[in-house]
Amino acid sequence: MQHGNKCEQLTLILQKAGGMLLFLALWLHAVGGGSGCPAMCVCYNEPRPTAACQQRGLPSVPTAIPPHIQRIFLQSNRLTALHSTIFSHCANLTVLWLYSNNLSHIAANAFAGLQRLEELDLADNSALHTVSATAFRGLERLHTLHLHRCGLSELPDGVFRGLRSLQYLYLQDNYLQALHDHIFQDQANLSYLFLHNNRIATVSDNSLRGLLALDRLLLHQNRVSTVQHGAFQDLGRLTTLYLFQNNLTELSGVTMAPLGSLQYLRLNGNPWVCDCRAHGLWDWFHGFHEFRGFQGSSTELECQVPESLAGRDLKLLKREDLEGCHAQGGALSGAWPAAETPPRCCLQDKSSIVSSRGRLVTHSPHEKGDMSGPRFQEPGRLENGTRSKHKQPGGPRPNAHGPLEPTEPSGQRGRCLKGRAPDGQCAQGGASPGRPLGPLLLLLSGLWHALSGC
Ligand SMILES: *[C@@H]1O[C@H](CO)[C@@H](O)[C@H](O)[C@H]1NC(C)=O
Ligand SMILES: *[C@@H]1O[C@H](CO)[C@@H](O)[C@H](O)[C@H]1NC(C)=O
Ligand SMILES: *[C@@H]1O[C@H](CO)[C@@H](O)[C@H](O)[C@H]1NC(C)=O
Ligand SMILES: *[C@@H]1O[C@H](CO)[C@@H](O)[C@H](O)[C@H]1NC(C)=O
Ligand SMILES: *[C@@H]1O[C@H](CO)[C@@H](O)[C@H](O)[C@H]1NC(C)=O
Repeated sequence: MQHGNKCEQLTLILQKAGGMLLFLALWLHAVGGGSGCPAMCVCYNEPRPTAACQQRGLPSVPTAIPPHIQRIFLQSNRLTALHSTIFSHCANLTVLWLYSNNLSHIAANAFAGLQRLEELDLADNSALHTVSATAFRGLERLHTLHLHRCGLSELPDGVFRGLRSLQYLYLQDNYLQALHDHIFQDQANLSYLFLHNNRIATVSDNSLRGLLALDRLLLHQNRVSTVQHGAFQDLGRLTTLYLFQNNLTELSGVTMAPLGSLQYLRLNGNPWVCDCRAHGLWDWFHGFHEFRGFQGSSTELECQVPESLAGRDLKLLKREDLEGCHAQGGALSGAWPAAETPPRCCLQDKSSIVSSRGRLVTHSPHEKGDMSGPRFQEPGRLENGTRSKHKQPGGPRPNAHGPLEPTEPSGQRGRCLKGRAPDGQCAQGGASPGRPLGPLLLLLSGLWHALSGC
């Protein structure tokens, strides 16, 4: 009886302790994310259920990420491939960060089942080179897609089809040479399109169709020499257009006319031809003829040709200064595709210029020499200089210029990367609320064991 009494007391004490421990365990369970966290990750529930697995040297995506997780941080690991449906059990996923890995392959259905995904960051995977045309199918809520510094040399036709919620698309710092017609046809809500520092040579009539809400178009530091007349026809809401440091010799007023909301325009660093071919652009700036005039701010348009106007700002010239029709020749050859007829006013003797006052001026060999000289190397030189600048790692993400810093939040990410983590959420290897569960459960099972022995 005494023995029984002692055992009863022990049982009571252990039951109380066990109850408390069980309560503690359940609480931690609720806070820590429940169905287990992958060994190399830290999981937490506030502000949203998150699996933080960044900077762990992971060679592959951890298995058994709990299905209720809404954010997965996998940046700065050593991932090389994403297999088909690898995240599809996380149907509530809204944020997926995969930047700064070594991804070279993304399977066609890698993001299948992620109907709620809002932000996908694949930037800084420089070995990616290409993505499957169907890689992003079904991401109907995606509003931000980062694909900058991915070594992309082309975008497959239809790659953005169905991404109707997209607002921010970052494609800068790749090797893109062209854009398929209608490639952005489903992006009626896109606000930022960043395409700077690529190798795009032509902006054709249909490559930007459908971008009815576009606010910022960054196309600087490419090789743009042709912008077709209809290229900007859907961009009535565009406020910012950067085309600096390209290879533009002319741009027509008809091309610019649809840009009724434009406020910030940068056209510097192009070899502008300031003769009769510049009339349309001059007219658009000054509200001449059918144009209403550009009221926003613009950088200089430094004239390259003719020699007499070299370095002057096209906008600030008088319209009569543009009367001359400079001959083709020297470095200017190829300004028009062979099949295309040059503007009527330029049909002149190829060795002559008609001056603003109608006099015929003959090219001197000296002038020609100058035109093919250092001045004409300028775009290349500028490109070299700025390219090296853009290669700098650790710049603001995504990098922009002037008044264009995107407003989307990226601060927390920066903190995670640097491991400073003032809120403790991004701390490495530190106290994870989910972690103590294992030892606790062991202790609990030991207790029950002791009790059953009575
Ligand atoms: C996903 O979210 C919905 C509500 O938003 C919830 O009912 C469901 O349980 C969540 N799924 C998982 C696996 O947690
Ligand atoms: C990236 O992956 C390639 C194979 O795809 C490998 O050769 C290379 O060493 C990897 N680079 C790093 C930094 O891990
Ligand atoms: C596009 O934006 C408008 C206004 O912000 C919004 O009401 C609409 O739902 C968006 N459409 C999609 C498909 O996201
Ligand atoms: C610039 O355009 C001209 C044709 O207008 C072309 O011949 C030249 O190669 C281009 N330069 C660069 C750097 O793309
Ligand atoms: C680019 O610039 C660097 C110096 O900034 C120079 O050493 C290099 O030769 C240049 N490359 C080309 C292709 O001009």
